[in-house]
Amino acid sequence: MKNKELIKTDFLTTRSLTESICAPLEVEDYVPQPIIDVSPPKWHLGHTTWFFEQFVLIPFATNYQLFHEDFAFLFNSYYNHAGERVLRPNRGLMSRPPVREVMQYRSYVTEKLIEMITKQDPAEEILERIILGINHEQQHQELLVYDLKYILGNQPTFPVYGDKFQTKPIAKSDFRKFTEGIYEIGFAGEGFFFDNELGRHRVFLEAFEMAVQLVTNGEYMEFIEAGGYQNFDYWLDEGLSFIKKEGITAPLYWYRKGGEWWNYTLNGFQKVDPSLPVQHVSFYEASAFASWKGCRLPTEFEWEVAADQLNWGQLWEWTNSAYLPYPGFSKVPGALGEYNGKFMVSQHVLRGASVATPSGHSRPTYRNFFHPSSRWVFSGIRLAN
Ligand SMILES: [Fe+2]
Repeated sequence: MKNKELIKTDFLTTRSLTESICAPLEVEDYVPQPIIDVSPPKWHLGHTTWFFEQFVLIPFATNYQLFHEDFAFLFNSYYNHAGERVLRPNRGLMSRPPVREVMQYRSYVTEKLIEMITKQDPAEEILERIILGINHEQQHQELLVYDLKYILGNQPTFPVYGDKFQTKPIAKSDFRKFTEGIYEIGFAGEGFFFDNELGRHRVFLEAFEMAVQLVTNGEYMEFIEAGGYQNFDYWLDEGLSFIKKEGITAPLYWYRKGGEWWNYTLNGFQKVDPSLPVQHVSFYEASAFASWKGCRLPTEFEWEVAADQLNWGQLWEWTNSAYLPYPGFSKVPGALGEYNGKFMVSQHVLRGASVATPSGHSRPTYRNFFHPSSRWVFSGIRLAN
């Protein structure tokens, strides 16, 4: 039996955390969409609200009145079952509704949902939808951090956001050995999980070694200085085409100034600290670095087996695994079946969590996924052998 009071608290905490992530922003920062991947903060605020309205209040709340009849069109992301919507590249063109009205939309939906939990005694199925909505909003909290960093980090003035979401220095790494064998992979136990963490299944792994720590900026600078971006031998062909086409010679947000590396951080423009984990690299760069080191990236299965012996949680870690369904994977009918399954092509799995992941939103079976060229993600590198 789900605990209604606990769900109410989690819901309210999540709603206010999203707003507090936006609090240091100026109103002008809420609108731009500098690249397709980056959604405007205003859009995240509206979309996470629409999710609760569309999937909880409309189907289940007694006498629910829509806040605004256009908002489903404006704030639906990719749910074909939920109808027509603003195309993704056009999210940043929406100067209306104003931020103030989106905040009113948030308050309205938050209030109606609390009213529903309190007065209606919702069935388990409805409470499960609310928990999904909370986890969905937590995912967007993390994307919001990536997106606001990209928006601010592409201002000529490099504005300071604040000292939240900073990584910490890491110790020198050593490798742990893991024996060959058959291991169980996928979610088991109590609590929330996404459908892509099922079905739990067995895999056979050869013996492997994995670094306890992530790769540091210092190590990555050695790769750059050794000509790593210029030597085609280290690169996957697709990766080499990508860096050539984009003119990439260092991680995202890095700049060469006075013979030294500097980078934009949410805490301002700073000299690159060699003791911090390297961040904002694509899968291609992670793979090339591993190749230069004479290593490789772990598979998502190796990562899950090794997780309790690794120092993880600062940055998402690129794995060498394509994002595919586990044996027995099934999606629920209707719109919510579109949540994960339809993205299982041309994406790589990242494991772990990052400093932008809300607390309580990580677990060793969690499967994050992005296109291998993505660099605005809070991503890092772990080596395996
Ligand atoms: Fe979403």
